[in-house]
Amino acid sequence: MELQVALCVAAVLAAIQWTDSVQVDRVVCYYDSRSRYREGIGKAEAPGDIEPALSTCTHLVYGFAVIDGGNNKLVPLDEYQELDSGKGYYRAVTSLKKRYPGLNILLSVGGLADPDKQKYLTLLESEDSRKAFVSSARILLRQYAFDGLDLAWEFPAIPIQKERSTLRSIWHSIRKTVGLAHSHKDEKAEEHRDGFTALIKDLKNSLRPDGLLLTTTVLPNVDASIYYDLKDIVPNLDYISVLAFNYTTPERKPDEADYPAALYQAGDRDTNLTVDGTIRWWLEKGVPANKIILGIGAFGVTWKLTSESKISGVPPIGADGPGEAGPQTKTPGLLSYPEVCSLLPNSNVKSPSAPHQLRLVTDPSHKLGSYAYRLPDSSSDTGLWVAYEDPDTAGYKGAYVKNKGLGGIAIWDISLDDFRGICTGERFSILKAAKNHL
Ligand SMILES: *[C@@H]1O[C@H](CO)[C@@H](O)[C@H](O)[C@H]1NC(C)=O
Ligand SMILES: *[C@@H]1O[C@H](CO)[C@@H](O)[C@H](O)[C@H]1NC(C)=O
Repeated sequence: MELQVALCVAAVLAAIQWTDSVQVDRVVCYYDSRSRYREGIGKAEAPGDIEPALSTCTHLVYGFAVIDGGNNKLVPLDEYQELDSGKGYYRAVTSLKKRYPGLNILLSVGGLADPDKQKYLTLLESEDSRKAFVSSARILLRQYAFDGLDLAWEFPAIPIQKERSTLRSIWHSIRKTVGLAHSHKDEKAEEHRDGFTALIKDLKNSLRPDGLLLTTTVLPNVDASIYYDLKDIVPNLDYISVLAFNYTTPERKPDEADYPAALYQAGDRDTNLTVDGTIRWWLEKGVPANKIILGIGAFGVTWKLTSESKISGVPPIGADGPGEAGPQTKTPGLLSYPEVCSLLPNSNVKSPSAPHQLRLVTDPSHKLGSYAYRLPDSSSDTGLWVAYEDPDTAGYKGAYVKNKGLGGIAIWDISLDDFRGICTGERFSILKAAKNHL
């Protein structure tokens, strides 16, 4: 009897040690292939420009393939660029495995690269559509030697409730009593959830014989409690990458700038709209910590300030829609990290198109994040407010992952990180800082 107990203890200890030694922190690097179409120093080509990141990444997620609405097949975003019949970028990227044998290279579908979100719901509604998707995915992955598929499924985001700040507390109490917080435009939400669960099961069965990975990326502001049937899907997924940013954006809240990716709650803000609030939800639902990957955005979110904005700069602050597009990313409301750093005081880089430096406000509490701003001045210049991730704040998020025992970090995306080393001389400084704290 005693021997049996001793053997049992030994077996358990061995198992613990074994899982410890195989559990490596994942460092998931998203690459958005649309960054290839930028001009100038923002143009990020794969494999060339991203290669210096790859000794840090454990997973490279090539984004994004899309769905052909006509036949529900998985298809490339840009056939000419990506397939062998054209320029062959898929092959060039998966060939990186020769030099980085430990790197897992996944193809991701959706990720907001596809403007038509409806296809992602329709596909889930019939078994035939799901079958068409599954078999086309297996063929495409095998043909181009990808190591797996990532589902960055384009579920509808939680709608914004239009609320005037003076009415906010009244509105909150109304919302609580009538349960409007969960009102949702998707009338077939349950059907879509069940379809997604079935899709994951079918994909797993189809990809397993080839040892291919299956992962999911939860896009910002998607209500996972609606679409993710965790009990049934988690066992079939290698990990879940939770993009914990863009809680506030100029699209969602044009008239109020605020921290888009605070680690912890502050003031009377909703704790759900923080990294910690989100991660705690996943953990409370019983998802194993080591399957949860924390998604960190390598970019800044911007709003235009007006003459009516507070002069202190402190958020939440009145604003007037997205800030002006950056010279490389050319997207209103968004700046890559190098675009942000070129606007900061003492920057190495002076951007000719944005001569007005910002005032920088760091966050000694390490809870909220950094921001920088410029008030509008008389010379018709519009003001700007930008909250962004930098190597310091990304490092705190890496440390958070370590403290919570999560499965790793994901950087969204490495083309927005400082891939040329413009800000500090170090390439991919956000990715590396987050990884160094794991
Ligand atoms: C936070 O989100 C969860 C999951 O969607 C929800 O159940 C909860 O009620 C939310 N809390 C608040 C304060 O809105
Ligand atoms: C995050 O927000 C920025 C600014 O609104 C937007 O350009 C970008 O597409 C968003 N990314 C995701 C993944 O939601």
